[in-house]
Amino acid sequence: SSATVGASKARDGFTSSFGVLAATLGSAVGLGNIWKFPYLTGTNGGAGFLVVYVCATLLVGLPVMISEIMLGRRAKSDAVTALKKLAPAGQPWWLISAFGVLSAFLIMAFYSEVAAWVFAYVFKAIGGGILSSDPKVTSAAFGSLIADPVQSLLWQWLVLVLIGGILLMGVAKGIEAVTKKLMPLLFLLLLVIGVRSLMLPGAMQGVSFLFTPDFSKITAGVVLTAVGLAFFKLSIGMGTMMTYGSYFRDDQNIPATTLRVMCADLFVSMLAGIAIFPAVFAFGFKPEAGPSLLFITIPAVFASMPLGQLFMVAFFILAAIASTGAMLSILEVPVSVLSERFGISRPKATVLNLLLLAVIGASCALSNSSMAEFKLFGMTMFDLFDFVTSNILMPLGGIFLCLFVGWVWGFDRLKAALSNEGQLHNEALVRVLFVVVRFVSPLLILVVMLKGLKLF
Ligand code: PHE
Repeated sequence: SSATVGASKARDGFTSSFGVLAATLGSAVGLGNIWKFPYLTGTNGGAGFLVVYVCATLLVGLPVMISEIMLGRRAKSDAVTALKKLAPAGQPWWLISAFGVLSAFLIMAFYSEVAAWVFAYVFKAIGGGILSSDPKVTSAAFGSLIADPVQSLLWQWLVLVLIGGILLMGVAKGIEAVTKKLMPLLFLLLLVIGVRSLMLPGAMQGVSFLFTPDFSKITAGVVLTAVGLAFFKLSIGMGTMMTYGSYFRDDQNIPATTLRVMCADLFVSMLAGIAIFPAVFAFGFKPEAGPSLLFITIPAVFASMPLGQLFMVAFFILAAIASTGAMLSILEVPVSVLSERFGISRPKATVLNLLLLAVIGASCALSNSSMAEFKLFGMTMFDLFDFVTSNILMPLGGIFLCLFVGWVWGFDRLKAALSNEGQLHNEALVRVLFVVVRFVSPLLILVVMLKGLKLF
């Protein structure tokens, strides 16, 4: 008996176990680790936030990620078709994936702009122009980049074309081949920079900021931020992991792969924190800089150390690599829906999505210049898309995925779908997972959302 439903032999997918790991980890690791995690930890009190975030990752992130990958592999199709196939006829569970496509666009719109700054900074670091130990100078340099509509748009388009170009080549020859090459390089760069940062005088102050919890800053809003970060980090609640799951091989152990990705992703965030905070403290900077931490504080920190320019170039190359793997997986969601569900050729689907994104993305690229005054709910489009996806759409997607698996699908199907070619390694663990997905995760997300959004 085949473990797949209606699989076609010709369907593109990951070809090796290492390929699965590289692509999936490549999706998880991204600007979330290097940009979001450090600044959110910095503004929300350090280790206390870290503890809440790790709990959210274990109680919500892990079970949702396993479920999502499993559904994708079971259906072996794009995210919308997957839920159409798996749900009882007439029940609109596919709406989870339709909202996922929306999330993919909103995330990609602001994410590609942060990536645009990162790519620009690789070249600015090589040129040396942004290298100054005075945060006023680095702040002015960043300010002039984001306030320049032409530069903001051009760098974003460059990023979009790069990602589109890789996606055109397909899943195995594009996504898998590229992430297999980039992920090892990313880990190497991260280790070098982490060790360098730890050797700085005064580094321990940064380490203790990251590892000594102070819970006084933890409010309901901060807990929602941590849960949202867990969703964003693991690329869940919006269809990416379902889509990648559909490219998994049938002999791939899903829980083990997920656990490995989760641990490696946490490890990268820790290393990013260890690379950034000691340096911040060693040179007398403050950790609360917010979203600009990466672009203002970091260059000033690097400028203050010997061989700083070299390390700064390496750092932004690392960030560029990390963002690439993540963006491939975000854009793959609508690309696969358009090409598989609507039968548009993959190249055409890619180009169509890029064009649409260039339009939506422009509202984020211009959020600090021409469209700075254009606000909804008091936020620029950049901030709004970021807030809505992490704090509302992805957690909601997570709730409904849990409800689907826990209440509609049921234990037997879950067990069958997690067996690899009829082999189930640990039935007790599947039972725990089932209870968590049925009760714990959805309730937890719901309460955190209601409290965090001040709805009760
Ligand atoms: N996980 C990625 C990161 O941390 C972002 C991402 C979100 C990727 C959603 C895919 C889907 O940078």
